[in-house]
Amino acid sequence: MRILVTGGAGFIGSTLVKSLVASEKHEVLNIDCLTYAGNLCSLDSVEGKSNYRFSQTDISDQKAMSEHFIHFKPDCVFNLAAESHVDKSIDSPDAFIQTNINGTYNLLKCALNYFKCLDAEKKSQFKFIHISTDEVYGTLSESGKFDETSPYRPNSPYSASKASSDHLVRAWFETFNLPTIITNCSNNYGPYQLPEKLVPLMILNAMGERDLPVYGQGLNIRDWLYVEDHADALCLVMEKGRIGESYNIGSDNEIRNIDLVRLICDQIDKLFPRQNKKSRQDLIKFVQDRPGHDFRYAIDASKITQELGFSPKTNFELGLEKTIMWYLSHNDWIESVTKPSLTNRQGVIQEFSASESI
Ligand SMILES: NC(=O)c1ccc[n+]([C@@H]2O[C@H](COP(=O)([O-])OP(=O)(O)OC[C@H]3O[C@@H](n4cnc5c(N)ncnc54)[C@H](O)[C@@H]3O)[C@@H](O)[C@H]2O)c1
Repeated sequence: MRILVTGGAGFIGSTLVKSLVASEKHEVLNIDCLTYAGNLCSLDSVEGKSNYRFSQTDISDQKAMSEHFIHFKPDCVFNLAAESHVDKSIDSPDAFIQTNINGTYNLLKCALNYFKCLDAEKKSQFKFIHISTDEVYGTLSESGKFDETSPYRPNSPYSASKASSDHLVRAWFETFNLPTIITNCSNNYGPYQLPEKLVPLMILNAMGERDLPVYGQGLNIRDWLYVEDHADALCLVMEKGRIGESYNIGSDNEIRNIDLVRLICDQIDKLFPRQNKKSRQDLIKFVQDRPGHDFRYAIDASKITQELGFSPKTNFELGLEKTIMWYLSHNDWIESVTKPSLTNRQGVIQEFSASESI
């Protein structure tokens, strides 16, 4: 298949691109405008492969995107291009509205213009797969899980922008018959994630003996999915997903933030004991909670499991250990993402220094 991936220089996109290229079954065009979150160093292993090409393009650029559709002639589109950091969406939502909503709208228009010109056989094969988040469903209390029928109740500018894009994708299917599928997944972790996000931030700060900032009392619960399992699920959706459907993707790994941070400390202590022999847990600092912080996310993935045979391969503790080992042995990549423009709401990234991390 000829597969166009947007946001393929980001965390999940680069994992998906590498998996598609390595299968040697597909031609892949990676479209990414390389915001602070895009990094071509994450794609070193596919650079120069004959079935891979990259274009630095903004998905909001109608002329450039139309040309990509005309020249590349994709059989499938994966849309992962997005502004993805909730904290940033609170401080400056503009880019979230622009890329996540307007960018997706532009991509849908370009895809539909292209789709209309395909012959019947090509039309029957074409899929537009939009990658979204479980955060569109809002927050859960102690019990229950999100399934595909859960109402949309987004609480942050990020999740509201993703919810808006999901609605546009659904409308392009219902109104214009563009063959779309939406996936909503839980929090991802694994190699190549920018250290503005919880898991890599804690790993790198713990190794550097810096504070481990935890929102509120750390009681919020997230449901973690190893990024390569997510990429496998997306490939299944491409192969067997039903048009017009949405699929929740998760891995049944619920854990409170504070317990996750403690687990990361314990795993690092085991691998690299501190000189003072103390636990890195004493670096944990509770900081003022994020406004509108959703309490709990949990995914019911039974639809993708039963319909498409999805089964995540990665045990959570082993996946976390693998992730820790990856960060501790990829200083070059860490250097490549440590830019002064990287901040989060506590300015924690600015304190982060790659050279201290190993
Ligand atoms: N990371 C998670 O835990 C998670 C969970 C659920 C859903 N998602 C969704 O998965 C997708 C990918 O997430 P991620 O964590 O890999 O994000 P990321 O921030 O790591 O990567 C996003 C990529 O999109 C690119 N991009 C941004 N704006 C663009 C534009 N206008 N045109 C072209 N490229 C643009 C960036 O340069 C970057 O390479 C997003 O849509 C996100 O909402 C992520």
